[in-house]
Amino acid sequence: AVMVSRRMKRRRGWRKVVTVLEDLEEGCATPVGRLRQVVDAMAVEMHAGLASEGGSKLKMLLTYVHNLPTGMEKGIYYALDLDDTNFRVLRVKLGGQRSTILDHDVERQPIPQHLMTSTTEELFDFIATKLKDFVERQENVSEFSVEETRELGFTFSFPVKQNSSSTGTLLKCTKGFSIEDMVGRDVSQCLQEAMSRNGLNMRVAALVNDTVGTLALGHYHDQDTVASVIFGTGTNACYLERADAIIKCQGLLSTSGGMVVNMEWGNFWSSHLPRTSYDVDLDCESPNPNDQGFEKMISGMYLGDIVRRVVLRMSQESDVFGPVSSRLLVPFILRTPMIAAMHDDDSPNLMEVARILRDTLQIPDVPLNVRKLVVKVCDVVTRRAARLAAAGIVGILKKIGRDRNGGTASSSKAKGGSQSKMRRTVVAVEGGLYTNYTMFREYLNEAMGEILGEDVAEHVVIRDMDDGSGIGAALLAASHSASLAIDNI
Ligand code: GLC
Repeated sequence: AVMVSRRMKRRRGWRKVVTVLEDLEEGCATPVGRLRQVVDAMAVEMHAGLASEGGSKLKMLLTYVHNLPTGMEKGIYYALDLDDTNFRVLRVKLGGQRSTILDHDVERQPIPQHLMTSTTEELFDFIATKLKDFVERQENVSEFSVEETRELGFTFSFPVKQNSSSTGTLLKCTKGFSIEDMVGRDVSQCLQEAMSRNGLNMRVAALVNDTVGTLALGHYHDQDTVASVIFGTGTNACYLERADAIIKCQGLLSTSGGMVVNMEWGNFWSSHLPRTSYDVDLDCESPNPNDQGFEKMISGMYLGDIVRRVVLRMSQESDVFGPVSSRLLVPFILRTPMIAAMHDDDSPNLMEVARILRDTLQIPDVPLNVRKLVVKVCDVVTRRAARLAAAGIVGILKKIGRDRNGGTASSSKAKGGSQSKMRRTVVAVEGGLYTNYTMFREYLNEAMGEILGEDVAEHVVIRDMDDGSGIGAALLAASHSASLAIDNI
């Protein structure tokens, strides 16, 4: 009798977790019809954000980048790429002929945790000294004379209201970054002052969002590149917009030409987004509730934590994971690289899943069907993220008229001609979530095909741009200094 009741209890527990899983699947459903609604909502919000300041949750920030690098840039340029967990310093040697980056050196440095929540001065002093060390290690005596000022592209991966292509103020903190005294200050000036304080003769020639750096490098390699997207700790996109479509600054810009617009799409919101109770809880408990809603469903900072919340619910409602592990209550303990590793685990017994459950969550020895269940949770959460990301990209293509063939199939047939040819469109992508997480990448590409239709999707190329945000900033520093030189003549 004891055996029978234990078996019944186990079965009841299993039924409960299956219900949790089914509810999750239903809540995260992204049929193509819904994705198309997200596409439309994205395009509508883009229009609204361009029409007036504060017209949309999409800020559609001006970058004052009118020209992307051409390939003619020449010389040695530096870049500093700061996001919230690392900063990278780079030195790029440009050959002056199309696509010749002669050489580039990168050094990654973790930012000590306490500096992420300290003061602007402390953070920038730390960065400036590391940058100075890097310069001294890299340079030959002959390259720069004592009085010569080096040019720097500064990639700052947060929302900035730019006043020019090299200056701008921080609007708000996103991701894990919370240096409140920096909000409202000119970040480029803060860095400039820190460099002077530390005796480094360098000038911030370009201040760029990471999306803009990635677009610059993408365009340098391939002139059909019109947009770029970051899938890292956070997510965001930028693209090339016609000046006359940027209604909110008409009069300030000449109507010919274009400008790169930093969408800050992490803050996109639409009632069509499939939202679950896990998303609601994650948002409420985050330091920035009601903010960055799209980012919280898609980016690397959050995916692992959504999975953790689901596993916690399953564990609370049944005993299939044994007693509830206190580790499951720790926010952000399950990081996205771990869910990528579990999801990509192709060993027959899912040994990687077992290892992560044991080592990170202190859940020992769960049977294979429970490990499979965890993989399924990762799958549902990541698939939703990747498909929403694809819808976002198609939203941009729609806004710039690159989401369909020049004429519809029926109208071109009616004219008796062959289908008009669609222009090739390249979207540059950067970030660990895309580069290192196979299933995310595959789901994203698959959804692009579903939404656009294969005949259109074959003209859209998603191109991975490793280190794009940093190298691109150096390229922009180079092209800006070149145009400064011309202005000065
Ligand atoms: C966050 C930032 C945005 C950045 C993105 C990717 O969304 O607000 O500026 O581009 O993360 O790093």
